[in-house]
Amino acid sequence: MNTSTPSGRDGFSTKFGIICAAAGSAIGLGNIWRFPYMAGEHGGGAFLMFYLIIILVLGIPIMLSEFIIGRRGQKNTFGTFRILAPGKAWWIIGVMGIVAAFVILAFYTTIAGWTLAYISKSVGNAFQGSSPEGISMIFDEFHKGTFWPLLWQFLFMLITVLIVFAGVKKGIEKYNKVLMPVLALLLVIIAIRSVTLPGSGAGLRFLFFPDFSQINARVIYAALGQAFFSLSVGMGAMITYGSYIGKKNNLASIATQVPLADTVIATLAGVAIFPAVFAFGLNPDAGPGLVFHVLPQVFLQMPGGYFISILFFILLAIAALTSAISILEVVVAFLMEEFKLSRVKSTIMASVSALFVGVFSTLSFGVLSHLAIGNLNFFGFLDFTASKVMLPLGGLLIVIFLGWVMKASEVKDELSNGGVLKVRLFNAFLFIIRFIAPVAISIIFLNSVGIL
Ligand code: TRP
Repeated sequence: MNTSTPSGRDGFSTKFGIICAAAGSAIGLGNIWRFPYMAGEHGGGAFLMFYLIIILVLGIPIMLSEFIIGRRGQKNTFGTFRILAPGKAWWIIGVMGIVAAFVILAFYTTIAGWTLAYISKSVGNAFQGSSPEGISMIFDEFHKGTFWPLLWQFLFMLITVLIVFAGVKKGIEKYNKVLMPVLALLLVIIAIRSVTLPGSGAGLRFLFFPDFSQINARVIYAALGQAFFSLSVGMGAMITYGSYIGKKNNLASIATQVPLADTVIATLAGVAIFPAVFAFGLNPDAGPGLVFHVLPQVFLQMPGGYFISILFFILLAIAALTSAISILEVVVAFLMEEFKLSRVKSTIMASVSALFVGVFSTLSFGVLSHLAIGNLNFFGFLDFTASKVMLPLGGLLIVIFLGWVMKASEVKDELSNGGVLKVRLFNAFLFIIRFIAPVAISIIFLNSVGIL
């Protein structure tokens, strides 16, 4: 099937390839590292409930909006707004997205570096014979260090850069196809071990039974940030990928399948982690180190745990890689198209500057831990700025743009591939985009800032 993009730019070659690339962007550390630790810090079930509602009501429509905007404009996240709304200032969404991409890449590579380090620790059998406390100590010692966390972060960025050099079709599409299903399978196996540990029931209750006394503006706000982060929406990653999607593909079906896959993986990660957390008597609210405290202990209790551990951290690193690629690609597409730089030059410029900020992120767990902003270290500050400020704001502007600036007929034309496909629920979609999404995001946002 030839689905090359109408503008003749590099694009995805098959429908399956597109879904894999978009799912590869969505599925990453957000699902397996960030989701459990956010759920753990925000009451478990109450968090999950709002997370699911937000994915359904806001996440899917926003992802679809990004695809529509990207494929319509056939440009990077900045250029597309200048094509679709010439002479207007909507390109600011693109600028904000590019800044957000730097911010996310900086702290994302910190955690991705940790996963690489854990491949090496798994190979070296570093956890053998350790108690849960011992495993926590290994993590503490490692992530507060200077040399090793930085080395792994640099290595991760280097691999990301090498793949982005290769370009969209050769680089991005190929790696996602096989590896995401394998990761899902492995999570199922780990989840089975986790729920069969003695004392694991409390973990399932924690994750699936909302404690309504836990619901407050802070929990809902965190669920919003997590949903956007996990789906890769709000900064134009899906606009950029949308511009690579062929005119024959069904955008609505991609924008439902990808969030579905993403949510299944996040929930599986929750089932793999929380039963074990409770079985081992650990604290669900351990913060960014949660999975690194818990999973090595689960692996120790599994037949073949040595190999499962290695395989798991390799797959996690790859999931992180396919996400990092999509973040870097936002900046690279922008530099290539707007400044007419080569792909290689653009990639080097973007990655070196993100890495510069990233060093501060990594060291803010160790030698730079005094570099606090409010009660957050520098890493926490970057994560907060991106997930809780820039992505919701970006998402808000994106739906306003689609709902109120683009013509409804234009939106329908893009959704139906020029009248070829039947578009179901178009009015419901438009209603969500015009009214529900902007109002909901604004209320959640303002509420948490304490204005409402
Ligand atoms: N969604 C990815 C994850 O869950 C991270 C990611 C990739 C992202 N691209 C993004 C987050 C764009 C926000 C915006 O790991």
